[in-house]
Amino acid sequence: MRTPVFELHIQPMFRATDREHMAFAFDLWDYDAVVSQADDILARLESDMPPVAGGGPWPDEWVELFRRWKDGDRKRLELGTADYAFTRTATAVTVTATGTFPAAGYKGWLQLTDVSETAKTYVLYFEPPDTPVIGTPETFTAKERYRPADTRSVFVRDAAGVQQLH
Ligand code: HEM
Repeated sequence: MRTPVFELHIQPMFRATDREHMAFAFDLWDYDAVVSQADDILARLESDMPPVAGGGPWPDEWVELFRRWKDGDRKRLELGTADYAFTRTATAVTVTATGTFPAAGYKGWLQLTDVSETAKTYVLYFEPPDTPVIGTPETFTAKERYRPADTRSVFVRDAAGVQQLH
């Protein structure tokens, strides 16, 4: 069974309105905050949060997923490192990240996380294996393609920070 991961399966269940309303206590989009409040968050999800008047409660499956993540390894993604290339042809724009994973069994990809009228930001995510894998770290090539009419600026966030590719 797929191990739930904070950035992929837990954080997206918290809406911007949940985050905003709960900011007085903790940040529902922050891994460390959710880990430190995990027992209390589960108790409130099972009783009165999000409030009915604000779109709650969650379906049982979502609560179960949160519980499974909390009672497991509370897995999260890592920010990767790579070399990047930005190319534009008549048919496509391609953003390419190439590099070597830190250890065997890793996966990695470019994920579009922020989109505005003028800019797109990708994050280079690495997902470690659930248990250490013996072997040689693999090299990777992660690509994102989109239509050439899209001329917005492109940023990439990784372990080294944020850089503009275009
Ligand atoms: C430790 C866990 C939590 C505590 C102690 C807590 C406590 C509170 C309190 C005291 C309020 C203000 C009173 C109210 O407006 O009802 C509130 C509001 C709210 N909470 Fe939480 N909460 C928790 C977790 C959560 C979670 C996990 C979510 C979403 C998944 C959530 C969503 C909301 C929303 C949307 C409101 C605004 C309700 C409204 O104004 O209509 N809360 N919470």
